[in-house]
Amino acid sequence: MTLARIPHHVAIVMDGNGRWATRRFLPRVAGHKKGMDALRACVKHCGERGVKVLTVFAFSSENWNRPPEEVSSLMELLAAALAREVPQLNVEGVRIHFVGDRAQLSEKVRAGLAQAEAATAGNQRLVFNICFNYGGRWDIAQAAAKLAARGEAITEQSLDRAMALAHVPDPDLVIRTGGERRLSNFLLWQAAYAELYFSDKLWPEFDAAALDDALADYAARERRFGKTSEQVTPPAAKRVA
Ligand code: IPE
Ligand code: IPE
Ligand code: MG
Repeated sequence: MTLARIPHHVAIVMDGNGRWATRRFLPRVAGHKKGMDALRACVKHCGERGVKVLTVFAFSSENWNRPPEEVSSLMELLAAALAREVPQLNVEGVRIHFVGDRAQLSEKVRAGLAQAEAATAGNQRLVFNICFNYGGRWDIAQAAAKLAARGEAITEQSLDRAMALAHVPDPDLVIRTGGERRLSNFLLWQAAYAELYFSDKLWPEFDAAALDDALADYAARERRFGKTSEQVTPPAAKRVA
């Protein structure tokens, strides 16, 4: 399958793990485990399709409010996955970046993240940002605090450079699975001009075909960035299309 226009940067709110498990009379953590399989497949498929940056929302600033057992399972799952998946990510040329507030995480999780980042630092095919203990508001506030501490003026450009995702361009496509139509504090600054795509599939069911549907939907959109349609796609080009 060839797709006309592949987004450079895809960002995903991986939602619906809990419902996937509950519908099968399984504990919620079983859904998170299954969600990890979906994520592995998604990373691989993004690389194959030529996506250059994949950013996923794995744990939000607000997810601390879940039952403590679920929070600790999510921490354990992340630590185990980082240790397990790095060799395959190296084969696929995937570079991991952790995005979020590390300060509240345990020493074990922090060490796992640092090791995974170091072990994949030489890879160039796909940048894989894992947003963990991340919130869009946290990011804007920490960027502003950094500038204030340095005595720098606050402008759009300086804030942009101080954000946790300053190493990549803004997302072109933001996907949310699980049927909800909200951002839940994800990429509030960076998604200003992203195309939004909502899928009713629960995250563990979001497979390569579902990702291709999202990519095809994106390819058919006209991104105007404030301009008119005629400016972006000259009428002559439209007649040919
Ligand atoms: C998303 O799935 C994963 C995390 C938030 C960690 P949920 O756990 O939110 O699944 P639902 O929304 O309850 O189905
Ligand atoms: C968003 O999902 C966070 C992640 C996917 C990590 P939630 O399930 O936490 O979002 P809300 O609370 O339903 O908005
Ligand atoms: Mg949810």
